[in-house]
Formats: sequence, structure tokens, C-alpha cells
Amino acid sequence: MNDKIEPEAITNPTGIASLSQRSKVDVLTLSKMKRKDEPVAWVTAYDSTFASVASAAGVDMILVGDSGGMVQLGYQTTNPVTMDEMILMSQAARRGAPDVFLIGDMPQGSYETSGRDAVVNALRFVKEAGCDAVKLEGGARVCEAVKAISDAGILVMGHLGLTPQSASSFGGYRVQGKTADSFELIIEDAFALQEAGAFSILLEAMPAEPAGQVAKQLDIPVYGIGAGNQVDGQLVIMHDLLGLFKEFRPWFAKCYIPEVITQFSDYIATLGDVKKVGREFRTDGLSTLAEMSVARYVEEVKNGQFPQKDYMYSVSAENLAKLKKSKKWKSKS
Ligand code: KIV
Repeated sequence: MNDKIEPEAITNPTGIASLSQRSKVDVLTLSKMKRKDEPVAWVTAYDSTFASVASAAGVDMILVGDSGGMVQLGYQTTNPVTMDEMILMSQAARRGAPDVFLIGDMPQGSYETSGRDAVVNALRFVKEAGCDAVKLEGGARVCEAVKAISDAGILVMGHLGLTPQSASSFGGYRVQGKTADSFELIIEDAFALQEAGAFSILLEAMPAEPAGQVAKQLDIPVYGIGAGNQVDGQLVIMHDLLGLFKEFRPWFAKCYIPEVITQFSDYIATLGDVKKVGREFRTDGLSTLAEMSVARYVEEVKNGQFPQKDYMYSVSAENLAKLKKSKKWKSKS
């Protein structure tokens, strides 16, 4: 091994402070971060390996998304995913990231039937998998479930915009919030979720300006995945960030492997006896490359570099002018 490289740099190549030095975010930290304009950086993970990569790279939160049904389990959509599959993936993610704020995604069929069913299933995420919160899709139509879960003392996040579980009712995976009608529906739903007790909302696939309006008008944090740079934080699917899913990649998702591959090969070059380092520390392979990628994403979210225009949906000048005339649009206060 090359004597010049410090053991700390070998065991922690991204240089991110370990969790024992950072504090786990909670609901109070999240609202403080919103007030202080500090973006939250989070990713999905569905097993212990990737959850531990995310944790080591310094993410604020992890979502065990039902997207795991597609990228891990090989389903064509998220619709077939079951509660048992979600619990299994959430338990594994929790083992890999014991100290990160973990959100379990409620699969289709687990919360629509009644408030009671929603609570029973939300409790499974908390009790069986150690999740800190759950997420579910929809607005006013799911407020009974949101209220019931929140009244049961469980943190619940709403999800608006493109909602994959009900994508067929929108005519497929389509960008939302581009017209005044669509924006008004979303902001009304967002207020309904906040009123019902949601602690935060995730917006998916919306142009930056209408998404920013939702974030600005709500008291609770509003995060985005493909919803531009005017929200309170960013989510990316781990398999898109690492370029692991070859079937499909949303246009807004950035793969960070090309961004860090030189950093990774420079790091390997400094190691000297790579085989020895690999045997002793196992920091010579894909987990280190993945950690560097996620760490770069976190850094870019925190310093406002991600998302840039080429990872955002746009709205035409004509439509933006119409959006701004909506009675629900608030100009600068
Ligand atoms: O399942 C998931 O990962 C999600 C994101 C697409 C927002 O819900």
C-alpha cells in the first residue's frame, strides 16, 4: 500500500462525516431546513447494500419506494407491488441505514380502502421495518387515509403531480402542473394534504415555477423529483443516479457515474497495493464508486447545482403567463 494515503481516506473515500458525527434528521429538522432554505437531499434504496451506500454518502433521508418493484423485482409498473414486498425491502434498507430518516412507500391497495386499512398498513412500516414515516400518492381523495395515519401518530408524506400508481388515469406518465387547471388542482390537493396532517409533500414531474409556488405557499416542506429547483429538496431514484436501470430513465434524472469516474480512478491510483486495500477495507469497487456518485449528488443538491435546466421540465412563456393569472398563484410577498 502507498504510505502517503491516510487510512481515513481509504475507509471513507468520499470524505463525508460519519453518522456518529452527523445528527439524524427528524420532522423538526426538516421544517427548520425549509425555513432556512437548506435543501434536503434524498434518494431511494430498497436493500441494505444501497441503503448503506446512501447513508455513507450523507443523504438526509431514504425512500423505500414502490419503484423498487420495477428496478429490483422486475415488474413493468409499480401496481403489482404488495405490502409484504414493501416490508421486506424496507426492513433490508433499515438494516443498511440504521440512523437515516427512512420513509416507506405505501403500495397501491394499502391505503385507499379505508382510514383503518391505511393505519394498519402504515403501522406495519413502523413496527416491522422501523420506518420513520410513510408516503402515499394522491390529494383530496386520500385525505381520510392521511388524517387517520397522522392521528395514529405516524408521519405521513403526500405525493402529487405525476403519481405512478394512478398514471393510467392521467393517460400515462405525463408532466403535471403545466396548465392553470392542472396547477390549481395540485395546489388545492397540497393544501388539503397539509390540512389532513401530512408532514411534507413530494411533487413529481412538474415544471419548476408551479412546483415552486406550491413550496412557497405551504408551511410544510415540499420536495421534488423532476419538479425543478424551487422546492425544498430533491429526490432521485438510486438506480437512475447510478445508471443501473436500462429499461427506462426519466428525463429529469441525472446519472452521476460519468461525473465521478475520474475521481474514482484517481483514488484507485493513489492506493498503491489495490489488492491489499481491497482485502482489508473493500473500498476498491462498486460500493465506493456508488458512494462517490451519491455524495456528489448530495453536494450538488446542497449547493444548488442540481437540478440545472437540462434536468427540469419547462413551461412555455404563454402557459407561464396563464399560470401567473391563476387566482391560486401568489406573486412575491
Ligand atoms: O416509488 C418511488 O420511488 C416513488 C418516487 C418515484 C417518487 O414514489
